[in-house]
Amino acid sequence: MGEPEQEWAESILGQVIHTYSVFKDKTKLYPEYLPDRLPHREPQLKSLAQVFKPLLTSKSEGIHRVILTGGYGTGKTATSRMFGKTIATIAQKHGLSLKYIHINCYKARTLPQVLIAISNALQISIPHRGLSSQEMMKGIIDELEDTDSYAIVALDEFDYFVQSNPVNSVYFLVRMYDDDFLGKKRVHFIFITRNTSLIHSLDKSISTFFMHNVIYFPPYSSRELSSILKDRVELAFYDGTVSEEVINYIAHLEGYDKDGSGSARTAIEILMRAGESADSSGRQRVSIDDVRKAHIVVKPELAMLQDTLEALSTHYLILLLAIVKTLKKQESSFVRIGDVEETYRVLCESYGEKPRRHTQIYTYIMDMKKMRIIHTKTSGKGFRGKSTLVGISSAPLDILEARLEETIKTRL
Ligand SMILES: Nc1ncnc2c1ncn2[C@@H]1O[C@H](COP(=O)(O)OP(=O)(O)OP(=O)(O)O)[C@@H](O)[C@H]1O
Ligand SMILES: [Mg+2]
Repeated sequence: MGEPEQEWAESILGQVIHTYSVFKDKTKLYPEYLPDRLPHREPQLKSLAQVFKPLLTSKSEGIHRVILTGGYGTGKTATSRMFGKTIATIAQKHGLSLKYIHINCYKARTLPQVLIAISNALQISIPHRGLSSQEMMKGIIDELEDTDSYAIVALDEFDYFVQSNPVNSVYFLVRMYDDDFLGKKRVHFIFITRNTSLIHSLDKSISTFFMHNVIYFPPYSSRELSSILKDRVELAFYDGTVSEEVINYIAHLEGYDKDGSGSARTAIEILMRAGESADSSGRQRVSIDDVRKAHIVVKPELAMLQDTLEALSTHYLILLLAIVKTLKKQESSFVRIGDVEETYRVLCESYGEKPRRHTQIYTYIMDMKKMRIIHTKTSGKGFRGKSTLVGISSAPLDILEARLEETIKTRL
C-alpha cells in the first residue's frame, strides 16, 4: 500500500490515462504528416513529372523551373514533398543521383540563409562567412558537379521571400543560369506561392517565364474533402467513432462549392478538434455538435456571431431558435424547413407573438444564409420530395440556444 496522497494522485492521473480516446493515432492528423496518397492531386503530380522528366531521360542541358500556386491548404507543400521523395527514388533506379531539397522561406528568410540551407541539405561544408552569394552558389554547383548529382530545390512560401528581400536576391534565384552558364545545369527549382500577383509585379522577363510554367492547385470541393477526410479518419481514429455524417458535415463546412474556403488543412484541423471535444466529454463517438465547437475554435471569427444576433429583429431570432431546437431534437446536421416552421409556431405561441407566414419565413431563412448564420442545401436521398434543408455551423447548439433565449427574453 502506498501513501494516501499518492493513491489520491494516482487515481486522478489514472482517470486521465486510462480514459478511452477516439484517436488511434492522432499524429496522422498533424499538418506535417505526409500521407501515402493525395487524392485529387494526381494531375498536379503528373504535371510536375512532366516538367522534370528530361532530368531523368537525357541528362538535360536545360533548366527546369516551375511555380506551384493556389490558396491556403490546397496541398501545394504536400504534393511537392511527395513528388520530391518519389522522383529521387525513381532517379536512383535510373542510376542517377538526384536530390530533392525542401526549403521553407519563413525559416530561411534571406538569400544567404537559403544557400546555407541548400548546402546543409547536400552536406557540403562551405564557409558561410565572407563568401558572396555567387561564391556560395558556385561551391554548391561544384560539389554537385564533382559527384555528378542534380538537385531540385523547392522554395516554399516563396511569396514571403519576394516580399521581404531585395529584388536582386529574387532575380539571383529565378535567373540563375541566364548569364551564359556553361555545362550541365545542376540546380533546378520549384517555387511555391499562394498568390502570383507578387510575381507579376516583378521584372517582365520573370513574370512571363512564370506565366508559362504554372501548376495551379484549386480549392477543394466538399466531395473532394470528404474523400480526403475519409482516408485520415481510417488512419487516425478507431473504427466506428467518426460517422459518415460527421465527415460529410465537415466537408460541407469547408468545401469551396459550399460555404467554405476549400482548405484541406482547415478540414483536417476541424476533424482533430472535434475528436478532442468528444474525448474531453468522455464520449466514444464524435458528434455534429463536436464539429460545431471545433469549427469556432478553428475559425474564431465565428465568435463574432454575437454581434450579428444583436442586429437581428426578434422574429429572425425566434426562427433561428426554432432551427436550433429542431436540429437538437432530430440530432442531425440538417433539418427540413417544414419541421422548423412547426417548432417556430409553437415558440411564437409561447412568446405570445403572431407567427409570420411561410413566404416570409423563407425570406428570413435566405437572409440568414446570406449573413452566413445558417447554411442550406437541397434534400437528396432519404427525404420525401425535394425541399430545402437548413443547418447551423457557426456555434455549438447549446450555447446558441442559451444566447437566443436570453436575447429574446430581454426583447419581449
Ligand atoms: N489531396 C490531399 N489528400 C490528403 N491530404 C491532403 C491533400 N491536400 C492537402 N492535404 C493535407 O492538408 C494539409 C495542408 O496541405 P498543404 O500543407 O500541402 O497545403 P498548402 O497548399 O501548402 O497550404 P499553404 O499555402 O497554407 O502552405 C496537410 O496536412 C496535407 O497533408
Ligand atoms: Mg504550404
